[in-house]
Amino acid sequence: MSEENRTGPSRRQFLTSAAALGAGSVAAGMARAQTPDPLITEIQPWAQQFGDGVDATPYGLPIRFEDDVIRRNVPWLTADVTSSINFTPIHALDGTITPQGCAFERHHSGAIELAKPDYRLMVNGLVDRELIFTYEDLERFPRENHVYFCECAANTGMEWAGAQLNGAQFTHGMIHNMEYSGVPLRTILQEAGLSAAGDLKDKWIYVEGADASSNGRSIPMEKALDDVLVAFKANGEALRKEHGYPVRLVVPGWEGNMWVKWLRRIEVSDGPVESREETSKYTDTLADGTARKWTWVMDAKSVVTSPSPQSPITHGPGALVITGLAWSGHGRIARVDVSKDGGMTWETARLAGEPGNRALTRFYLDTEWNGEEMFLQSRAMDETGYVQPTKTQLREVRGLNSVYHNNCIQTWWVKPSGEAENVEVS
Ligand code: MTE
Ligand code: CO
Repeated sequence: MSEENRTGPSRRQFLTSAAALGAGSVAAGMARAQTPDPLITEIQPWAQQFGDGVDATPYGLPIRFEDDVIRRNVPWLTADVTSSINFTPIHALDGTITPQGCAFERHHSGAIELAKPDYRLMVNGLVDRELIFTYEDLERFPRENHVYFCECAANTGMEWAGAQLNGAQFTHGMIHNMEYSGVPLRTILQEAGLSAAGDLKDKWIYVEGADASSNGRSIPMEKALDDVLVAFKANGEALRKEHGYPVRLVVPGWEGNMWVKWLRRIEVSDGPVESREETSKYTDTLADGTARKWTWVMDAKSVVTSPSPQSPITHGPGALVITGLAWSGHGRIARVDVSKDGGMTWETARLAGEPGNRALTRFYLDTEWNGEEMFLQSRAMDETGYVQPTKTQLREVRGLNSVYHNNCIQTWWVKPSGEAENVEVS
């Protein structure tokens, strides 16, 4: 039997496919360099002299080559002089932790500067003892550390009517994920005594910030006593001013608006206050004109961060790392699927590390790109069995009058050139 007549791949075919495989592999990366490669064969200037001394800036900044990994805003979103929203560059980050320096911010009346000596936290209402804490008082309670995502309810809010913003930073960047150090709110409420509150299951707390907006929100007691943190550190260091220095509330899995910054007051009450921020704002109108009430939890969601419009493919066909983020306000991510054909077929992605509880989960699909166009999507499933909906499914239930809680599947049209665009598939 001649070699050609054998079943299975011939040796020549084998070599061809191996070469194709190599195109995107590390070997191909080496092939791009000159031979001999002066970066290997010649002693470079940086190896012929002393480098700089320890950083002249006492608090270090990223290397200048990374100066495009920055928060950005969308000028037409906030027409006023002071922008009140910026977006995390999720297209350029990896892993799961968001450095504070590139975490999105959202302020309703600007970021305030509140020094620790001027900080007070008041607990009042249906408690045995109305109390006022200083910052130092809070530091004397037992602390915990937890990683949680904080997603603004308006994240992806511009995309209801159609594909609008060209970049994962803009469509999905109102999210950050940090490790918080703080005191469980439960501990502080217990210190004030809750017996005056009677049956706790019907009770609420009302939380407000020290800024002019106060951003007051009502939280049911069950959540308040569960996992809410009164936090003062993020990723090991003090909260940045813009994230609520010196103290903010962390409300795991619930919409970012409830994460009150510059926390100044907690009132235990019989019912919700129904403040502006939880009635005319942070409420969605449905197609029939009625509104959804108390939409606190951020449902499971995911997005491919690369390739994406701001992170195009810059190499030819062959090995390609598709990566993104998934999260659920209901707990842990169970699975993420990725589609290259707009949702017709799916491959299960690899979750990097153990998915955290109400924290961002990084996923990877280590794949081969054939150089053709792709309609890239990701679809998250959480531990409750909930599956991230398509845009069509979400619109069927919610109509088109929503702003908040858009957790639909996102599509990036990746072209043969490697460039990507925000599109919708039907
Ligand atoms: N807390 C106060 N006191 N003032 C505010 O304007 N903005 C809220 C919330 N807490 C806000 C606030 C909104 S809408 C969001 S999404 C988060 O804070 C954003 O937190 P960040 O700015 O740390 O990202
Ligand atoms: Co918000």
